[in-house]
Amino acid sequence: MAKSLKSLFAGCEKIVREAEPLAAHTWFRLGGPAEFFAEPNSVEELAAIVRRCHEAGLPIRILGGGSNILVRDDGVSGMVLRLSAAPFSQISVDQGTVSAGGGAKLGHVVSTAVREGLAGLETLVGIPGTVGGALHGNAGSRGGDVGQWTCLATVMTRTGEILQREREDLVFSYRQSSLDELVILGCQFQLEPDDPQELTKRMQKLWIVKKASQPLGDQSAGCIFKNPRGISAGLLIDQAGLKGTRIGGAEVNDRHANFIVADADATAADVLRLVELVRSRVAERLGVELETEIEIW
Ligand code: EPU
Repeated sequence: MAKSLKSLFAGCEKIVREAEPLAAHTWFRLGGPAEFFAEPNSVEELAAIVRRCHEAGLPIRILGGGSNILVRDDGVSGMVLRLSAAPFSQISVDQGTVSAGGGAKLGHVVSTAVREGLAGLETLVGIPGTVGGALHGNAGSRGGDVGQWTCLATVMTRTGEILQREREDLVFSYRQSSLDELVILGCQFQLEPDDPQELTKRMQKLWIVKKASQPLGDQSAGCIFKNPRGISAGLLIDQAGLKGTRIGGAEVNDRHANFIVADADATAADVLRLVELVRSRVAERLGVELETEIEIW
């Protein structure tokens, strides 16, 4: 039976949209629509939609900054929620603690911490996306990850209940976190006092190195594969001779081989086929199985 917006979301139908194109919400700018899509204006609205979906057995996905996902050309069924409204993106500082909403941009949190003379997060400069997305996948660089500074997280479960996760409940490892509830509403980072000018200099240096080694201005989703056992997946793809390999409008980047850059006319299928080609060539030539870091919807 077709699911009708009116019957499923009575009372919330004004904020739920149908067949929302997702491409424009992602860095790859590829992929099809979401069956249902909403940007709730408050925690109460979010909880109401989550409960409706739970009752109706409708799957929910949370879209952060769209910088680490690839949406398939067919799009996704169920509900996609985006925490773009102001109540989800507040940032505040109280002595050594920075509190941030799950929808806040990680880059804004990093620059706030640096300006306030709080050290730790500056190694995350240049990482796109939201705080929620960063915590979900424990985003990081070679200098550290977001999980190591996180002392508290507020989450919403699949039934719409709000819970606090204290530091002792939180386990972070390379690109993984124990935060597996539906929504990360917000978190607190415990940071260390430092000189704001020194921090700014350190951050600027890291930014220059990153810009020189990654195609940040292009249509991509950051690194495609996780680094297997600490070895750079980019180095492996490069050694396998795959830089510049192309399928349709998708190409293995020349500057950093763990990036796939899409042309304006690329499809998600081009990227997926290239991901599989890279995976099989690296396995064949170097005997290493690569695992994707990006989420494929
Ligand atoms: N290298 C090559 N060819 C390439 C890519 C890299 O020879 O095409 C070499 C580099 O010259 C360097 C080594 O491999 O000697 C490591 O490269 P890099 O410093 O770029 O680090 P990475 O391990 O490839 C990781 C993260 C990046 C993060 C950088 C910098 C992963 C999958 N990647 O890359 O994260 O920005 O360190 O801290 O963990 C991301 O997760 O989306 C991402 C871009």
